[in-house]
Amino acid sequence: MIIEPKVREFICTTAHPEGCRENIKQQIAYVKAQNIKEGPKKVLVIGASTGYGLASRITAGFGCEAGTIGVFFEKPSNGKRTATPGWYNTAAFEEEARKAGIYAKSINGDAFSKEIKKKTIDLIKQDWGKADMVIYSLAAPRRTDKDGNLWVSSLKTTKEAFTEKSLDLRNNTIVEKTVEPAKPEEIQGTMKVMGGEDWMEWIEALKEADAIEENALTVAYSYIGPELTYPIYFDGTIGQAKRHLENTAKMIRQKFPEISAYVSVNKALVTQASAAIPIVPLYFVILYKVMKKEGNHEGCIEQIARLFKEKLSKEVVSVDNEGRIRMDDWELSDKVQQQVISAWEQVTTENVAEISDIEGYWEDFYRMFGFHFPEVDYEKDVEIDIKIPSIE
Ligand code: NAI
Repeated sequence: MIIEPKVREFICTTAHPEGCRENIKQQIAYVKAQNIKEGPKKVLVIGASTGYGLASRITAGFGCEAGTIGVFFEKPSNGKRTATPGWYNTAAFEEEARKAGIYAKSINGDAFSKEIKKKTIDLIKQDWGKADMVIYSLAAPRRTDKDGNLWVSSLKTTKEAFTEKSLDLRNNTIVEKTVEPAKPEEIQGTMKVMGGEDWMEWIEALKEADAIEENALTVAYSYIGPELTYPIYFDGTIGQAKRHLENTAKMIRQKFPEISAYVSVNKALVTQASAAIPIVPLYFVILYKVMKKEGNHEGCIEQIARLFKEKLSKEVVSVDNEGRIRMDDWELSDKVQQQVISAWEQVTTENVAEISDIEGYWEDFYRMFGFHFPEVDYEKDVEIDIKIPSIE
């Protein structure tokens, strides 16, 4: 099939297997060049197929030569529609890992469920005995908890309605967007889906099955962002969930003192999850422009390779006063934020292409789905029904 991108606002409904493979190869090459070496050896990545989780899997595998088990929720091709990008990413990752002699197996299913936890833990026990690192990188719209209750996540404020400039991704114009306040049950739902409850359940299940090393490290990913986006992010429903996630790191350390549990606050980046947040994409395009100009722009792989190399591989994990790892240090520097605020104040439909990096945003967006890689021949007929080697 010849595959073209089909974009609907902030999602692309097709993915290109060759482009996804190219994406994986480039991330692997980047990580190898970083000379990380030190690090974990048996890494479970929950949410391993795209974005920060995928970058974590690649960094563990090709930076530290660690075996990885990746859990994710993706759709294979049905022969007519393409698979989701995370499916193709994983197929390519496993193939590259095999070529390099690095262990890699994957489990596709609902990470919130007891069944997938059991399946994963059985695999760990069978192949490794115990994992020495657990990365928790889920971004999900809903969760059915272990008692069968369905929780839905929302992206709303928790106080009054909030109106701000926003980028309309359909036509790259600046519009005003109002985000409504959440009802108490929407706040609770977001905390249940994106908070730390399920992270704790994973660690408890691993502990109970004796499938995690005594001195294991576990890291979950969070975001704070600038004051500009506080009403919709840090003080919004998602921010409440992230505070819960941060507290969970403390709770894991209290309950299992031998385990090092941390939250890493990462940089704002275009991923499938973040493209859906209202108002925030305008901040992204401005931030991209400023950080590229400053020469300190990073993508997921640069962030995670730096995390492993500089913050995690030392005896003492480097944290802030609240015990969080700060990978958003460059994003939140005064120099960057002052320029972001000034651009934010000035931005209009007429000047948005000039004072922000819309082009860079869309490049990242298309690349997430395997498009716009000059190395790939998009005119070529390609097989869309690709197998992930470890999945039957
Ligand atoms: P993403 O959408 O690229 O990745 C989400 C991953 O979760 C995918 O592997 C997907 O298959 C998996 N997943 C979703 N639902 C699942 C389920 N029910 N069972 C199993 N797997 C499931 O998202 P992204 O942006 O990489 O987010 C990962 C984490 O990083 C999130 O906690 C997010 O809040 C955080 N983060 C993201 C930032 C950003 O700007 N993108 C910034 C800082 C933190």
